[in-house]
Amino acid sequence: MKDAQPRAIYLKDYQAPDYWIDTTDLTFDLFEDHALVTSVLGLRRNEDRGQDTPDLTLVGIDLELISVCVDGSELTSDQYILGSESLTIPVTSKAFSLTVVTRIRPQENTSLEGLYKSNGMFCTQCEAEGFRKITYYLDRPDVMSKFTTKVIADKGRYPVLLSNGNDIARGEFEGGRHWVTWEDPFKKPSYLFALVGGDLEVVEDSFTTASGRDVALRIFTESHNIDKCDHAMLSLKKSMKWDEEVYGREYDLDIFMIVAVDHFNMGAMENKGLNIFNSSCVLASPETATDASYQRIEAIVAHEYFHNWSGNRVTCRDWFQLSLKEGFTVFRDAEFSADMNSRGVKRIEDASLLKTAQFAEDAGPMAHPIRPQSFIEISNFYTLTIYEKGCEVVRMIQTIVGKDNFRKGSDLYFDRFDGKAATCEDFVKAMEDASGVDLGQFRHWYNQAGTPVVTLTDGFDQESGQYALTIAQSCPATPGQDTKLPFHIPVAIALLDKGGKALPLNEAGETERVLHVTAAEETWTFEGLAEKPLPSILRNFSAPVRVKYDYSREDLVFLMKHDSDGYNRWDAGQRLATAVIEDLVDGLLKEKDTEIDSRLIEAFGVVLADEGLDKAVKAEMLKLPSEASLAEQAEEIHPLQICESRSRVRKAIAEAHKDKLLALYQALELKGEYRPEAGDIAKRTLI
Ligand code: SER
Ligand code: ZN
Repeated sequence: MKDAQPRAIYLKDYQAPDYWIDTTDLTFDLFEDHALVTSVLGLRRNEDRGQDTPDLTLVGIDLELISVCVDGSELTSDQYILGSESLTIPVTSKAFSLTVVTRIRPQENTSLEGLYKSNGMFCTQCEAEGFRKITYYLDRPDVMSKFTTKVIADKGRYPVLLSNGNDIARGEFEGGRHWVTWEDPFKKPSYLFALVGGDLEVVEDSFTTASGRDVALRIFTESHNIDKCDHAMLSLKKSMKWDEEVYGREYDLDIFMIVAVDHFNMGAMENKGLNIFNSSCVLASPETATDASYQRIEAIVAHEYFHNWSGNRVTCRDWFQLSLKEGFTVFRDAEFSADMNSRGVKRIEDASLLKTAQFAEDAGPMAHPIRPQSFIEISNFYTLTIYEKGCEVVRMIQTIVGKDNFRKGSDLYFDRFDGKAATCEDFVKAMEDASGVDLGQFRHWYNQAGTPVVTLTDGFDQESGQYALTIAQSCPATPGQDTKLPFHIPVAIALLDKGGKALPLNEAGETERVLHVTAAEETWTFEGLAEKPLPSILRNFSAPVRVKYDYSREDLVFLMKHDSDGYNRWDAGQRLATAVIEDLVDGLLKEKDTEIDSRLIEAFGVVLADEGLDKAVKAEMLKLPSEASLAEQAEEIHPLQICESRSRVRKAIAEAHKDKLLALYQALELKGEYRPEAGDIAKRTLI
């Protein structure tokens, strides 16, 4: 019987498996109303768990068991125990072969997990626990196996039969059926298994790796979409090259395939050598797609491709470690997108997403650390916290150890754990070992939920020329965690003089410094200053925290005009505009006339005229905060007044800077064909 109460499982209860599955040989016989799955497993006792041979329990859901054989002898039904979601067999030797035949019904599978049909095509989704809907298995990521997969189906309906790895043999049967055998030489957990069968068209290209191996690249879609794959193919080639250059990671198989599927729960899935994508994340044409969707496709293709190392070659020991592959891979794709497009805009977009959506998650009833301690249902943990905050945690490690050490750390991590299942701790330890930097306190980011609040106060002593900056940190309580230990927070700062110039902060003349905030409160002093500087705090959004510093409106105007950090400059503009719009909302509510603060209008003029500013960042800076973001920050939400006040400010800016805006528009006119290329995209965003 299925458990009546859903039960939580705990990280602290983790135990290695009793058995390993060295080899997994699968045969799929696909028919119109069912499929037969024959699984031959090469099992071996995990001797770290003892010398005895306990019963073997495999998990399986919605399977019809047909037969079970151990070392070639069929078991009778009294020789095994069939549970509603398990199959238990007695074991008598340390190494044996287990053959299980099951019947499944992909046509009736509407969960979009396991093997199912989408528009007449067979496809799979096995992350996190979908493989158990295909056959009885040790469906857990620390069990890594070499898979061979034979797919048999009607040739007319399903001319294309795909699985992971390289296709090693194919043939035909009488009666119109054909078969293809795929062999994946790399060990992988079951969640990376994939199978596709359908009538698909293919776009082909190739990539030569740094060491000179040729890799065939294939994108499969339904025939009416075949002309929409060029951008995904280009993105794939760029990703392959980038991972070689930036992380020294080459692709390993002879083929890399992407299949676009209409019915898909996630954006896309990194199955070994056979990525399956939601069509919306792969298909684009200039007639129907926006710049944003071109960039999204590029980012998702890259994300899934990068998983080949961060996720597949090195996988997660258990699902509590999900952020090990997701946080790191989001970080990798964010850096890739920053290199391909505007780095400034990418940072603004990512920080905004975090500050709105992830901070809200951290403040709500679902708040959880990037490595949760327990879960009931893992599919509820594919969250912004695991992905986006997880990415920020990896970024902070890079900030703390430095870029070169970070690369050494990632090399060490890939070296140590290639072909293995690892933990977040293994990742941090590799970074620590490679850099010699102590990340002891930093580890709290993995255990503690909630968004830390960093409060800054400062003072200047004219006589001694000493500027003192005091930084205090705290973190609100979250469910199950009333008190928090201080985090190690890298706070990047610069000090600006009256002219907007960043002052040198050390003898080497560096104008930006990372303050390692580790105590509940600590003061930093800066000597030899002629005047009180204005701090530019948390540059490039150096940590996922809320910052409190009492900026006057003058300060915000100043930062909006002068800050050399793109993210902070944008942020100052947003804060200033929010304050000005709030004035108007307040005025409307009190039914009194309120003037628009002219300093905002003037600061917009300075931004508009700034020739040195990246066009894409300029476009972001010229956008007023959205109504949603204004509402989010308001104590009481007044939608009509927000809308009216925002339009009033917008109009005032347009009127005041009509000539400059018109000149900018005319200078940016785009000629020629549509190109989803960074320079053109920046221009289009600006106009
Ligand atoms: N593992 C998949 C991805 O990250 C599903 O979320 O893209
Ligand atoms: Zn991912």
